[in-house]
Amino acid sequence: MSETASLPVEKLSADEARAELERLAAEISRHDALYYREDDPEISDADYDALRQRNAAIEAAFPDLVRADSPSVSVGAAPQEAFGKITHRVAMLSLDNAFSDDDVTDFVSRVRRFLRYDPLHGALAVTAEPKIDGLSLALRYEGGKLVSAATRGDGTTGENVTRNAETIDDVPRTLPNGVPEVVEVRGEVYMAHSDFAALNERMIGNGGKPFANPRNAAAGSLRQLNPEITASRPLRFFAYAWGEMSAMPADTQMGMIEVFREWGFVTNPLMKRCESVEELVEVYHSIEEGRAELGYDIDGVVYKVDRLDLQERLGFVSRSPRWAIAHKFPAEKAFTIVRDIEIQVGRTGALTPVAKLEPVTVGGVVVSNATLHNEDYVKGIGQDGEPIRGGKDIRVGDTVQIQRAGDVIPQVLDVDLTKRPAEAQAFVYPTVCPACGSHAVREVNAKTGRLDAIRRCTGGLICPAQAKEKLKHFVSRNAFDIEGLGDKQVEFFYDIPLDQGGIRQPADIFTLQARDSSSLVKLKNRDGWGETSAKNLFAAIDARREIDLNRFIYALGIRHVGEGNAKLLARAYGSWEAFAQAMEEAVDHESAAWIDLNNIDGIGEILAEAVVQFFAEEHNREAVSALLAQVTPRDMEAPSGEGSPVVGKTVVFTGSLERLSRDEAKAMAERLGAKVAGSVSKKTDLVVAGPGAGSKLKKAEDLGVEVISEDAWFELVGE
Ligand code: IVH
Repeated sequence: MSETASLPVEKLSADEARAELERLAAEISRHDALYYREDDPEISDADYDALRQRNAAIEAAFPDLVRADSPSVSVGAAPQEAFGKITHRVAMLSLDNAFSDDDVTDFVSRVRRFLRYDPLHGALAVTAEPKIDGLSLALRYEGGKLVSAATRGDGTTGENVTRNAETIDDVPRTLPNGVPEVVEVRGEVYMAHSDFAALNERMIGNGGKPFANPRNAAAGSLRQLNPEITASRPLRFFAYAWGEMSAMPADTQMGMIEVFREWGFVTNPLMKRCESVEELVEVYHSIEEGRAELGYDIDGVVYKVDRLDLQERLGFVSRSPRWAIAHKFPAEKAFTIVRDIEIQVGRTGALTPVAKLEPVTVGGVVVSNATLHNEDYVKGIGQDGEPIRGGKDIRVGDTVQIQRAGDVIPQVLDVDLTKRPAEAQAFVYPTVCPACGSHAVREVNAKTGRLDAIRRCTGGLICPAQAKEKLKHFVSRNAFDIEGLGDKQVEFFYDIPLDQGGIRQPADIFTLQARDSSSLVKLKNRDGWGETSAKNLFAAIDARREIDLNRFIYALGIRHVGEGNAKLLARAYGSWEAFAQAMEEAVDHESAAWIDLNNIDGIGEILAEAVVQFFAEEHNREAVSALLAQVTPRDMEAPSGEGSPVVGKTVVFTGSLERLSRDEAKAMAERLGAKVAGSVSKKTDLVVAGPGAGSKLKKAEDLGVEVISEDAWFELVGE
């Protein structure tokens, strides 16, 4: 042990304190690993507590020296690597939203249309239940014993919080005899209002910071490194869904929930089975009316098609099921004052005005920023001269009404002109980029001939704001997801010169460690860093030297290419080489590559053009090739549907189909691993033609593409 380790806290100099905090962080993290991962602690609980207490005492005496990886920071804020990861066998999806009764009518009609469920089949049963405002948890049982608990994470991989989940009373450790071998029950962890109030009181009493709302309290409590802390937090759990099941104990949603209740889970008593939109809406309003008395937060009502065979046929669209929807409660509103209007520059150069607000609590959350969308929105006048907010502009000093809906950034709904200070000036929208001084322009949309609503910085590569935002996107959760490299660290590395260990473009991330070893100032010696945190960062970076093609494409930040489109592109081309080559060829709009790109179902012309433009830019190609020297995108495997005769085939449906709706036909083909295109080309493998097929059928015949009937399709795929 070094000498400083035995010095009393009051005697430590700043340098000694810094060294001591570094030592304690490493020690505590080592003991955590021994205790949590290896189940083999080396020291007594009392000695472990003493280490933590010393760490806390030094931090209290030297608040400026608190480390980013401090053991005192709860996991809520610290890198998630503290927990092991669990890959969900069945993805954990989110829900599409409905905001009005009409949206609910649309949902039910959509489902009926998709299933061709005509009124002759009788009523379509749909369940309605509260949408709990907590965080979702997947509980896996094998042989009736709880073996793991995982948070949702990014939907594919979540955090292993088994030890913590075991401390929740509502989570059964064992299930009754006779349950299926593998059972995965999913539901929501939440905190009741009364427990939340008591917890916050306790925290304030102990000199701590209270939680903003029960949801944060639940998340912060579940994601604790020390399960004893979780155990001391009053968490609850409602079961409402499932993942992998080795056998299904029921064939309806309602039936499954009843079985879960019999197995010892807590299920929501307000769940109802309905047979019409009117009934659904009635349940919605009655749940909404009783909301304040429930004793826990809910933010809407979830509707689910009751029959599981229909759920299966309906399947999913990107991240949410077609068979369910969340009908959200109206957003919460409040009045506050605009203190300033700031312009933020995004990764594509878009200038976004943001209102800096006098902090105000809306629905339990303190809000101090609201988006003002764009120039027209601040002016209060839309594109065609039609007024927004009655034509009221937004000025610094104004009293405004704001609204917060779920996790969406709050918005300004209205301006109270009676409270406008006499000296308030109309906001002058900048025509140069606040970050780099380049001109900021509103492009004319070639198609509509109208001005784009967004003003964009023309600085491109020279604009530091764009570069930083691009990097933040690159490392973000659904892109490269590099642990320990978040927004703050991107800002930090961007401001360091390249030869001293800085980061300017994605490739620099992967050369960081090599450059660090020859840099005069080492990362571990920089403020806020240390041996362990630098080592962890390099390891997290190395862990991403191979990455799924869709994530790689998404990470590039090409305009209009979100996660869903990146997946479509990755699936269509399969490998980076094929994709890049096709995009370079597609510059020529007469080329087969351009036509194929536009033929990918779900890819429109604007997106196609944006991707092609990205590849046409010399500096983008350079940045990507520098990156490819460091990183290998993994080829996209042919989608599921193993063994199906249409895997990898491009199929076109045309004419009217009798047994399936067009949407279901498409979903079915995709489930079986086929690509569905909207038009026939040389690349088409198969055309399924129903009565009334016209030009597509003719083209298929001209090109010699195989054409089959709907019945032959069913025979082919054996369904
Ligand atoms: S069903 C495949 N039912 O809402 C869909 N979700 O916005 C499975 N949630 O991630 C979800 N209450 O965390 C379902 N009664 C409920 C819910 C519920 C809350 C959460 C869940 C989900 C999120 C989607």
